[in-house]
Amino acid sequence: MKSNKSPQEKAPIVSALQENIAKRTVSFDVPGHKQGQGNPLLRDFIGKQALQYDVNSRRDLDNLIHPTGIILEAEKLAAKAFKAGHAFFIVNGTSAGVQTMVMSVAKAGEKIIMPRNVHRSAINALILTGAIPVYVNPGIDMNLGISLGMSLKDVASAIDEHPDAKAVFVNNPTYYGVCSNLKGIVDLAHAHGMKVIVDEAHGTHYYFGKNLPMSAMAAGADMSAVSMHKTGGSLTQSSFLLIKDAKETAYVRKVLNLTHTTSGSYLLTASLDLSRKYLALNGAKLFAKVVEITEYARQEINEIDGYYAFGKELINGDTVYDFDVTKLAVYTAGIGLNGIEVYDLLRDKYDIQIEFGDLGNILAMVSIGDTIPKVERLIGALDEIRDVYGKESVMLKTQEYLHPIVRLSPEAAFYAPQKKVKFASSAGRISAEMLMAYPPGIPVLAPGEEITQAAIDTILYAKAHGSFITGVEDPTITTIKVLEV
Ligand SMILES: Cc1ncc(COP(=O)(O)O)c(C=O)c1O
Repeated sequence: MKSNKSPQEKAPIVSALQENIAKRTVSFDVPGHKQGQGNPLLRDFIGKQALQYDVNSRRDLDNLIHPTGIILEAEKLAAKAFKAGHAFFIVNGTSAGVQTMVMSVAKAGEKIIMPRNVHRSAINALILTGAIPVYVNPGIDMNLGISLGMSLKDVASAIDEHPDAKAVFVNNPTYYGVCSNLKGIVDLAHAHGMKVIVDEAHGTHYYFGKNLPMSAMAAGADMSAVSMHKTGGSLTQSSFLLIKDAKETAYVRKVLNLTHTTSGSYLLTASLDLSRKYLALNGAKLFAKVVEITEYARQEINEIDGYYAFGKELINGDTVYDFDVTKLAVYTAGIGLNGIEVYDLLRDKYDIQIEFGDLGNILAMVSIGDTIPKVERLIGALDEIRDVYGKESVMLKTQEYLHPIVRLSPEAAFYAPQKKVKFASSAGRISAEMLMAYPPGIPVLAPGEEITQAAIDTILYAKAHGSFITGVEDPTITTIKVLEV
């Protein structure tokens, strides 16, 4: 009799690990903690069971960088679940996926069209490859002070002006849940012989939920880096890299292996295997619940004077082509506090940890691990913060989009002769470093760009208001490295 069990019930890596433990094999291979026996401190901290699964690649457990057995089987199951040509298991974060995408589509001197509100990993990938960015200004919501998606018209202009570009890079969605017209961009880019690579660090759930924005694979994009660990429930650092065309598997694997570890953690790959199974079997129901929770929270927060929890009303058919309702972003400047202040108050006074607070907004990450009672605590705390700490609503300086002036490729600038100058008086110099205010971790300056007074003002303002500034060698941001010339 034919079984009607879904192939997605299988979790080949997990099963192999369990069988391996049952055999009680004596190991004379790495890791040296030997299932925890060699390090009781670590064993007491994370538990014997976890350490039993922390093993090395073996013939029966396959090998992450050249899989032919259970890992390949797990990758194929993941590809089916994501409706991709192939899915690579990544244990180096979505950063490794983003870098592999960029390195797969462009070589030194070749162009990639991208919005500037990309994650730092994309700029780092440009340094690694020597590819040249052609920046498209993302749309801006001046009221909220956030950058949006790319307008299709702007992508079309960039393609017309740079017909030699190799690919278009798209965020799907931005940190705040804003989506560009991905299908429109894919069709346009493909019509001009360009590939489309997508950063879906915040979009895993599009592959499993219903009535959510379109996923990269559904839109026909060529590659996508997906943070299973963010909204998909796997362990931190574990991600998927998806490709549309299975014929490119061997080449993309070769590129991925340029930077991927040769000691892939089985805790991470097993967590990807199990999370894929769980979402493939239950995702529609699980994400319907997440939508219910976030829509409820949005409604309740919008009842509180001064806050604005934004949602689908932002959709404008262009720079906000779609909006991900599972993202709970709240504009806080209406209560006279910036997002960083609200973030700190929630943590320090209410023991509530949110994803981030920026100059004008906070973002609470709601997931398959949340419930309505948990979100009630957040709503209650926000209400009290307004009453106790709120001030006159002020127009806060929010993070405007600064159009970069690219003088040199990021790679050329990164390796050029450099010197240190005072950051506050560096306007007009060419930056050798990347500089970003975290959150949201989007570069204000990248290597090779002219330092403008507006960029200096933005960084100094963000620093003064509690943003964590990273990217430069000098942690005090008193100096910055610029090109000698
Ligand atoms: C948009 C975006 N892309 C890529 C990444 C990198 O992901 P990871 O931290 O898994 O390397 C992040 C991380 O926050 C991100 O926000």
